[in-house]
Amino acid sequence: MRLVLLGLPGAGKGTQGDLIAERYGIPHIASGSLIRDAVASGSELGRAIESYMRRGELVPDELTIDMVSERLSRDDCAQGWILDGFPRTVRQAIALDERLAQNNLDVQMALEIRIDPEEAIARIARRMMCSSCGAIYQFDGSGPQEETCSSCGGKLYRRVDDTEETARNRMLVYMRQTHPVVHYYSQGGRLYSIDGQRPIGEVFADVELYLRRLVNPRRVGEAR
Ligand code: AP5
Ligand code: MG
Repeated sequence: MRLVLLGLPGAGKGTQGDLIAERYGIPHIASGSLIRDAVASGSELGRAIESYMRRGELVPDELTIDMVSERLSRDDCAQGWILDGFPRTVRQAIALDERLAQNNLDVQMALEIRIDPEEAIARIARRMMCSSCGAIYQFDGSGPQEETCSSCGGKLYRRVDDTEETARNRMLVYMRQTHPVVHYYSQGGRLYSIDGQRPIGEVFADVELYLRRLVNPRRVGEAR
């Protein structure tokens, strides 16, 4: 399975990507996580890209294309993968298609998780992440906020780009630079859209409906 997840910041790409990876046993590759790891490493590359992320702007295409390309070349990707947050520009989408075509492969499906921007901003304001295993949490603010991850005990933190100001800029950047990628996959007949404004389990049930059709190619045409 070679799947791309699209959707506004906060739409639930990371949440659904984790669930798909667990169910189908393929890696969930989030370009944002690759970038955060590079920044945390303190490398020269990390220092060069940190300011883009802090402002909610896209990191230059050539850097993200190289990063994702290297990740896709690892052995655990042989049976497929879920890409989350990449491609984010039409240039990245074309580069991905060209890279896959060299091995007679393609992106089989692009799943767009649709959500209202104000709901996305509200979710981002309530998000916490595990610094150790990357688990994603949502806090409603009504009780005392947890400080440790319930699955691994790691320390929870807020992403540096999860301020309201940066989140609003990320929405604009998505509409300007990433929404054209939705059209790119739509034109290629590979786009499927899901209502992401429902509970996580209901969204995942819809994701699975599409993915089952993908596993059985004869039914893909019926999915639209
Ligand atoms: P990235 O890390 O990709 O962030 P993003 O696209 O802005 O998306 P998010 O991670 O904020 O949201 P999500 O859709 O994953 O939602 P989540 O599941 O966490 O990118 C960060 C930055 O890195 C970019 O701004 C850019 O600078 C750079 N970058 C990354 N990729 C790049 C690329 N290809 N090119 C250039 N630059 C790049 O859910 C959000 C919250 O809602 C969580 O708290 C979750 O628990 C909750 N939630 C999820 N689903 C539901 C639901 N159904 N109901 C209620 N709550 C829910
Ligand atoms: Mg994410």
